[in-house]
Amino acid sequence: MSALIKVDHLTRIFDVSKPWLNRVIERLPKALLTAVSDVSFEIEENSVYALVGESGSGKSTIGKIVVGLVPPSKGAVEVEGVDLATETDAAKVEAVRADIQMIFQDPYASLNPRWRVRDIIAEPVAAKGGDTKGLAERLLEQVGLSAKDADKYPHEFSGGQRQRICIARALASGPKIIVCDEPTSALDVSVQAQVLNLMSDLREELGLTYLFISHDLTVVHHMADKIGVLYLGRLVEEAPRDTLFDDPKHPYTRMLFDAAPRMDAFGREVEPPKGEIPDAINPPTGCAFHPRCPLAVERCSRERPEMRQIGQTRVACHLAE
Ligand SMILES: Nc1ncnc2c1ncn2[C@@H]1O[C@H](COP(=O)(O)OP(=O)(O)OP(=O)(O)O)[C@@H](O)[C@H]1O
Ligand code: SF4
Ligand SMILES: [Mg+2]
Repeated sequence: MSALIKVDHLTRIFDVSKPWLNRVIERLPKALLTAVSDVSFEIEENSVYALVGESGSGKSTIGKIVVGLVPPSKGAVEVEGVDLATETDAAKVEAVRADIQMIFQDPYASLNPRWRVRDIIAEPVAAKGGDTKGLAERLLEQVGLSAKDADKYPHEFSGGQRQRICIARALASGPKIIVCDEPTSALDVSVQAQVLNLMSDLREELGLTYLFISHDLTVVHHMADKIGVLYLGRLVEEAPRDTLFDDPKHPYTRMLFDAAPRMDAFGREVEPPKGEIPDAINPPTGCAFHPRCPLAVERCSRERPEMRQIGQTRVACHLAE
């Protein structure tokens, strides 16, 4: 197996300063927000790599950089050996763009309400002058809907069905890689499982590779082969799924597991207390997790932990062993 996607020391900084005049009057410095910081990982062909982390940890930003919607500030992403941000050969860029598609969280916002489903699904192919005859009908059946649905409009479908339409459209150009950004978190729990099963089946049938973004560990456990845990834009731990679930090494990963819904002795859900996520504009020094970390020692606020390989796990914590 070879790596289809290589993310190499990826960093993305956003300028979130107030307008220039306000800054002058209020004597404010520029405000720079580091959404992604020095992240490296690889995704093998025909595997599912999941990124997990709390809100604001940089998951979507990484997804958008991978598909070429947002350029990196530093570092690089190679998809099939091509760096979309710097490649000058238009034919190569075009080929990679056709091989990689993205599915978003909100299946309604990403469907044009005035278009028939047939045109929505076939659009990526039609835009390139490809043959769209029978395409939407075939794809609708592949995602568990009916060929007759091609004549309908998005509002005639439920949330789960709309997400199936989004999946059909993503498949239209025959991609190899799909970046899925919280594809089921807007759906009812009962429907989530069906859509996830569909995505697993399609992966088998079509030999797809997924970058799967989620804040939900249950979903990630269901889908992923390998999992990367993000904290404030940094990768803090990465391991094959079972290794991560059996033996989480980073204190933040353990906290994520503890924060997953649990039952008390009376069958009620317990929400364990946990600290605030710090400000991404002024992140803590050293290990960014140190203000919340139950194991933090003096060194943690001073020195940023490097990624280290321990068995099959990569982890960035001074104390991990
Ligand atoms: N275009 C932008 N301009 C300024 N800041 C941005 C922009 N996009 C993202 N950010 C900031 O970057 C950080 C990471 O955002 P991102 O959307 O990648 O997080 P996320 O992990 O996907 O969160 P969520 O789980 O809420 O979707 C956040 O602090 C966010 O406010
Ligand atoms: S480096 Fe220190 S603060 Fe960071 S996770 Fe490890 S023990 Fe906690
Ligand atoms: Mg997001």
